[in-house]
Amino acid sequence: MDVYEAVTSRRAVRGFADRPVPREPLERVLSAAAWAPSGSNIQPWHAYVVTGAPLAEIKKRAGRRLAEGDPWDEPEYEQYPAVLKSPYRERRSGFGEQRYGALGIPREDLEARQRAASANWQCFGAPAALFCYVDRDLGRPQWSDVGMYLQTVMLLLRAEGLHSCPQMAWAKFRRTVAEVLSPPDGLVLFCGMSIGYEDVSVHSPRTGRAPLGETVTFVDGL
Ligand SMILES: Cc1cc2nc3c(=O)[nH]c(=O)nc-3n(C[C@H](O)[C@H](O)[C@H](O)COP(=O)(O)O)c2cc1C
Repeated sequence: MDVYEAVTSRRAVRGFADRPVPREPLERVLSAAAWAPSGSNIQPWHAYVVTGAPLAEIKKRAGRRLAEGDPWDEPEYEQYPAVLKSPYRERRSGFGEQRYGALGIPREDLEARQRAASANWQCFGAPAALFCYVDRDLGRPQWSDVGMYLQTVMLLLRAEGLHSCPQMAWAKFRRTVAEVLSPPDGLVLFCGMSIGYEDVSVHSPRTGRAPLGETVTFVDGL
């Protein structure tokens, strides 16, 4: 698979087949992803790749919390600014309309939206997950390094025939994840990532992108 195909075939998959992911491709992916760049090569990511009984336990505990109406864990970082300005606000609501529209959920049915979103905490049926932490003392450039690392992981997963969904939603249940993984003090859970083979019977529409001119400026003359 060439790089363009890896990039364009990666998408947030939210329905995974009930088919285990062997350890070998995951080790290949994580070994290669270690070559992701980072400022001064400090490699600020801490990733846990979780399968089998520990992942089942995380899902079980998260499911129990949801069923009991347990509130989300207090945020350790702001996922979005309180007021999202234009054009990000419109892009975000466009995404929500597409995602929930595809499931037949109208805009005003917040309860149904929440029910659909709760599949996050079952990893959309994925048999493997990655939980990515970053040191609390590191700053924005290092969070950006972590993003590059995660994208590298997701592209390499495509080369193994695997799909993924990055999930900040897991930060909302970060205590549940920590109960099972016991990460060292001082790490912040940035996000989880569901990993597995796609369940092609689950319809997931391709998202669009802003026209190139909205996000890129070519400067090639005076
Ligand atoms: C850092 C990050 C966090 C995300 N968190 C979630 C999430 O919690 N749940 C979810 O379903 N999708 C999540 N997504 C997926 C985005 O919604 C998705 O990448 C975006 O809509 C573009 O669609 P595409 O990835 O299919 O191209 C996240 C993506 C990123 C990069």
